[in-house]
Amino acid sequence: MKTTIQVPVRGLVHPRDRKKRTFSGAYRHRIDRVLISSTWIRRRVRELARQLVGDLRLRRSSELELVVVLKGGAVFANALAREICRLGGPPVIFNYITASSYGSRTVSSGTVRIAGQIPFVRNKDILIVEDIADTGLTLARLKEYLLTERRAASVRICALLDKPSRRKRALKNRLALDYVGFRIPDIFVAGYGSDCAEHLRELPFIVAVKRRGVK
Ligand code: IMP
Repeated sequence: MKTTIQVPVRGLVHPRDRKKRTFSGAYRHRIDRVLISSTWIRRRVRELARQLVGDLRLRRSSELELVVVLKGGAVFANALAREICRLGGPPVIFNYITASSYGSRTVSSGTVRIAGQIPFVRNKDILIVEDIADTGLTLARLKEYLLTERRAASVRICALLDKPSRRKRALKNRLALDYVGFRIPDIFVAGYGSDCAEHLRELPFIVAVKRRGVK
C-alpha cells in the first residue's frame, strides 16, 4: 500500500473527472484549478481506511477514538469513518477540537490556539484527523497537548494533505504523520472541508485558490 501520493503542481485529475469543468460566478474568482479531483480523493480515503482497519486489527483495538480538528478535518473524518464502517472496522468515536495556527488569513500566526470542549482522552489511543499539515505547528502542539496535558495513552496523526516543503525546520524530523492522503506542493488550497477565508469548504474536490481570491 502506498504511504502517500505525490500531487504534481498541475494537479491530479482522474480521467473520470476530466470533463471540462466551468465554475459559476460565485466560485470563478476564487478557484484557479482543480488540484485533486473527487475520484482520487474517494479512492485515497478508501485506501487510508483499509490501512487503518488493518492496523486496528493488529493492535486488537475495540474502538477507534478520533480527535477531529475543526473545522477543516470534519469532512475528511466523516468520509474516513464511513469507509471504516463499510470495511467492517471497529466502532468510531468522534471528538472535536478547535486548534489552528491560522486566523482567517493565509499565513500562520505561529501560535496555536486550542479551544472547544476538551475530549476525555485519558489512557485512550487517539487518532487526530486534520485536513492539512502545513508548518506542522498545529499538529505538534495538539499531539503534545493530548499526551502531556490530557494523558492520552498514544496519539497518531492522519492528515488528508501534507505540505512537507512548508514544515518548520525544528519539526522536520520530530513530527511524524502516521497516515497521509496526498503530499502537495506549496500551494494554498481549499475544498473538501478546507477553506479560504471560510469559503469553498463544500467543494467535493481540492482546488488551488486564486491569489486574488485569498484575503
Ligand atoms: P500548520 O499549523 O501551519 O500546520 O497549519 C495547519 C492549519 O492551517 C490546518 O488546520 C489547516 O486548516 C490550515 N491550512 C494550512 N494550509 C492551508 C491551505 O492551503 N488552505 C487552507 N487551510 C490551510
